[in-house]
Amino acid sequence: MGARQGKPGLRGALIGYGTIAEGHLTGISRTDGLEITAVVDVSPARRAAARRELPGVRVLAELDELPVEELDFIDVCTPPHAHLDGIRFGLRHDLAVLCEKPLLLDRRELEALEPEEKASRGFLFPCHNYRFAPSVIAMKAALAGCGAADGDFRGHFRTLRTSHARGTADWRPDWRRERSVGGGGILRDHGPHSVYLAAHLVGSRPDRVRCDLRRPEGGPYADTEEYAFLSLSFASGAVVDFELDWTAAGRQTSYLVSGSWGHVRLIDDDLEQCVDGSARRSRLPSDFNDPRHGNWFKGVFEEFLAEVSEGGRSARLREDAAVTIRVIEAAYRSAALGGRWIDV
Ligand SMILES: NC(=O)c1ccc[n+]([C@@H]2O[C@H](COP(=O)([O-])OP(=O)(O)OC[C@H]3O[C@@H](n4cnc5c(N)ncnc54)[C@H](O)[C@@H]3O)[C@@H](O)[C@H]2O)c1
Repeated sequence: MGARQGKPGLRGALIGYGTIAEGHLTGISRTDGLEITAVVDVSPARRAAARRELPGVRVLAELDELPVEELDFIDVCTPPHAHLDGIRFGLRHDLAVLCEKPLLLDRRELEALEPEEKASRGFLFPCHNYRFAPSVIAMKAALAGCGAADGDFRGHFRTLRTSHARGTADWRPDWRRERSVGGGGILRDHGPHSVYLAAHLVGSRPDRVRCDLRRPEGGPYADTEEYAFLSLSFASGAVVDFELDWTAAGRQTSYLVSGSWGHVRLIDDDLEQCVDGSARRSRLPSDFNDPRHGNWFKGVFEEFLAEVSEGGRSARLREDAAVTIRVIEAAYRSAALGGRWIDV
């Protein structure tokens, strides 16, 4: 990493000071050894908010104004269209780079980045925060104790929302319905969480995907899908189906995994475990309905610090993110081909 490597406490800059940046700040404030010393945002109103809310932090309009010699990391929290530029900037200056999902939009962006990653003393770290929801942690532990780990794993994950999430009112609140900003609709927005979570719960990476999409038939959002159905298959024999819906009657996040051993089901905060005929229920407040997911980011930043201490060498999460990007890209291709199975 950059010039400050080895000094106590790592200093970072937030790039994009909107909704999710608040969740990141909560995580950073609960993690020893990290502080935010600068913010970059293109919106004058968001810069004004940062000056108000983060006294003492340098607030800037352009990445190029950042005092990179005073930084160890940047944390890219912009909408997807600006992720690649943010990542490139950080790597060029030998900084560690955290970045929100979707990390990048396709294989071409990923491949274009490879030489820059190799040449940099920094590294790329994707924020896979859903793995740190308390109920997901409990679900992973429950699955470890039954036959699911051997591929006897059938998943059905549902992310039901009554609309797309809106971003900060100070910029373009409906950017998730602008293809040139979000890179797609619900598959691009929620798909990454479902894919990395499936890989995490199965314990390996998927190798094939098929997908159906639905876009509105007209109107301003016609080029972004608002419903997606995916099936992911794994070499172990595991299969996970996802439903992602921005047009549902109510909001719910649920993950059901079943096999000949029984089932484990999570609906928002409620975990039900039925293994070998005996059922157990527990409630784990997990804040699935908090758009900032502030409670889940401590785990992300602790994982980041562990990666820093290894000099960014483990690259496990980086590879998980690369597979996730390839799956989403293949899912769009599958949908364009009428739902054919596509190798990842
Ligand atoms: N991990 C999660 O659970 C989660 C949840 C929500 C959003 N996200 C991701 O976080 C990112 C941001 O989403 P959000 O909901 O916070 O959006 P938002 O609209 O609330 O905030 C985005 C901010 O980025 C700023 N911005 C836009 N372009 C910029 C640029 N080129 N340089 C600097 N600043 C720029 C905007 O002014 C705004 O303040 C997206 O990639 C989104 O997918 C992740």
